[in-house]
Amino acid sequence: QAFNVAVLGATGLVGQTMIELLEQRKFPVAELFPLASSRSAGGTITFKGEDIEVLDAESFDWTQVQFAFFSAGGSVSEKYAPLAADAGCVVIDNTSQFRYEPDIPLVVPEVNAHALADFRNRNIIANPNCSTIQMLVALKPLHEAFGIERINVCTYQSVSGAGKSALEELATQTAGLMNSREITPEAFSRQIAFNAIPQIDVFMDNDYTKEEMKMVWETQKIMGDESILVNATAVRVPVFYGHGEAIHIETRMPIDAEAAKQLLADAPGIKLYESREDFPTQVGNASGNDLVHVGRVRNDISHPSGLNLWVVSDNIRKGAATNSVQIAEVLIRDYL
Ligand code: A2P
Repeated sequence: QAFNVAVLGATGLVGQTMIELLEQRKFPVAELFPLASSRSAGGTITFKGEDIEVLDAESFDWTQVQFAFFSAGGSVSEKYAPLAADAGCVVIDNTSQFRYEPDIPLVVPEVNAHALADFRNRNIIANPNCSTIQMLVALKPLHEAFGIERINVCTYQSVSGAGKSALEELATQTAGLMNSREITPEAFSRQIAFNAIPQIDVFMDNDYTKEEMKMVWETQKIMGDESILVNATAVRVPVFYGHGEAIHIETRMPIDAEAAKQLLADAPGIKLYESREDFPTQVGNASGNDLVHVGRVRNDISHPSGLNLWVVSDNIRKGAATNSVQIAEVLIRDYL
């Protein structure tokens, strides 16, 4: 059985990666419909060696497709997801537009694939925030064994999470500053080259940013446990691809690094780096593959049931495109 598939945001970083992954993972695509705005309609993208025309989402007939992957921004999803869903298409939405609606599954396949049982509620499935996905793939086995009460996390997030224009801004700013040119920040609120910016997304009333609060809300929904406390600081760093996270957990049962490593070594989607010198980094290990890389696992010297981990993953792949395609693969395997 093969399916007609639309990718909305086909010219963007996540959309392009989705199209590559559909090919690489041999997703059963009968016909692919790359969609974008009128700005890029008429151009082409390559899929399985063929040039396929990019179509304007505005005039697309959604009854033609069974699956649609959305990654063109929240307002675009707000407009088109209900249209596609009403036409019978299953929408896998990478934006935050629908994530917090109780009847919409928010899914990381390694963590809560069972939540997909409700996919027909609205015909929309939400893909979580990139930082939440990699954190929960790493923490799920530890939560099951030791019961996580509290998560304290600082992120080191790459610019690709903010789209193509942000990627270009890091490159041109870096070159500009090296050549003593004046630079004007556009994609970020501060200079990103040679800097770190403790602001991702907008500020909320409680002085956290929305990115930080996404990690709170999404962790509780995906783990199905509102008692898990999450305290996040999200920071943008001058890295092109891959997010790093320094995670500290406190557990109900006593935890120790050796037992944690044994669980992590066998958990799905994880590559564990056991020896202390062999830790993963964004550039060296995480970018360009689908794994969640976990290293620096150690007991917290300041807390009797605390553990520290360093977790990196490719935000465009496992943090976005790969997770979305995996959701569709589980749907096909278990529900369609
Ligand atoms: P377009 O090329 O037409 O602007 P990124 O996050 O890498 O910047 O990519 C954003 C993606 O979302 C692009 O594919 C972009 O297409 C698409 N997009 C942005 N706004 C709209 C819109 N109003 N309708 C459809 N697609 C959109």
